[in-house]
Amino acid sequence: MIIDLLLREHRNIDLLLVALQRELEIFENGIRPDYEVIRAIISYFEVYPEMYHHPQEDLIFSKLKARDPDAVAIVGDLALEHREVVDRLHHFARAIDAVLADRDLFRQDVGNIICDFILRERHHMMWEERDFFPAALKALSAQDWTEIASALTNDGDPLFSEPAAATSDALRAHILQLEQEAEAERSSVALSSAKDGNP
Ligand SMILES: [Fe+2]
Repeated sequence: MIIDLLLREHRNIDLLLVALQRELEIFENGIRPDYEVIRAIISYFEVYPEMYHHPQEDLIFSKLKARDPDAVAIVGDLALEHREVVDRLHHFARAIDAVLADRDLFRQDVGNIICDFILRERHHMMWEERDFFPAALKALSAQDWTEIASALTNDGDPLFSEPAAATSDALRAHILQLEQEAEAERSSVALSSAKDGNP
């Protein structure tokens, strides 16, 4: 079921947001966060939600529009939501690239941009799960879902392809592994400075 796959991807995205949140906490404590982790998370968002996740949702949304325009009027504008998601991601990526290029940027601004990205990304997924997905499940027929699934695969679009899913799983596992290593490194540094009597 497509919605189940989309929900699963939301959970996956949330795992990355948890890792990002951790890096934000580090940053807000005045310590250099692991920019490799942050950049890898941005790269994930640039590829998977953009190329696979949003197009599936957009297709479901256009079906919903045809089946139940009144529901769509209540649910809101998915195309606008997705444009905003992309804009936020670009904004976030530019800020991190500026930091990495040592360009002058207010610390507070970087913190705010990351924080805003996490909050609004979560809010966007919550909105889809609370309003959009239930409306689609209510209005669309089994035939509609079959058509959506075949539209996604017939275009040669690898939306449901196993390799795409496997690559995104592998990349996510790699990012979470990097995050664990960054955490382990930080706690060993904290431990050794505590031993040396440094704060
Ligand atoms: Fe989504």
